[in-house]
Amino acid sequence: MTVTDRGATVWLTGLPSAGKTTIAFALAERLRGDGHRVEVLDGDEIRTFLSAGLGFSREDRHQNVQRIGFVAELLASHGVKVLAPVIAPYADSREAVRKRHDAAGTPYVEVHVATPVEVCSDRDVKGLYAKQRAGEISGLTGVDDPYEAPERPDGRIEAHTQTVDESAAALHALLVERGLA
Ligand SMILES: Nc1ncnc2c1ncn2[C@@H]1O[C@H](COP(=O)(O)OP(=O)(O)O)[C@@H](O)[C@H]1O
Ligand SMILES: [Mg+2]
Repeated sequence: MTVTDRGATVWLTGLPSAGKTTIAFALAERLRGDGHRVEVLDGDEIRTFLSAGLGFSREDRHQNVQRIGFVAELLASHGVKVLAPVIAPYADSREAVRKRHDAAGTPYVEVHVATPVEVCSDRDVKGLYAKQRAGEISGLTGVDDPYEAPERPDGRIEAHTQTVDESAAALHALLVERGLA
């Protein structure tokens, strides 16, 4: 089996506007260019269908992450490189996804996109930080809802200190190191 046939899940966890989606798509393009089969399971997109109806309570956030973890493992077990740019704020939810992969012998790589909340809040791609400040929404991850940053992720990307391409290259190097790219 060549490295292009080996499936794996790469989970990008981090705050809203940290750059998870942007970096995942840059990495996806790079991997596709090398001949890998790639799927991006984007948190926002999944919430429009697979997790439609789920809200943002602790239980619903957990459920959302478990569903994405389930699909990710299935795809990865069939040789797909699955990139999951999904906030996944709770350590126990992420741990359950890792265990599911471990039990199946499917490689799992957790990456913390560690952009500080001040930078995320300035970027505010979806206007959520502004809405929270204005009192229009509550329960924003990292502001007035928990974000349990991974203590020992497989990789940590200080995305705000480098370009998107540099972040994608760093993740690519991590996959090469693990025999996955
Ligand atoms: N160095 C960087 N790395 C990643 N994203 C960056 C960077 N600098 C600026 N950005 C911008 O920050 C925003 C991140 O948004 P997005 O990827 O949707 O975040 P998330 O998926 O984590 O909510 C994008 O508009 C992206 O172009
Ligand atoms: Mg995103």
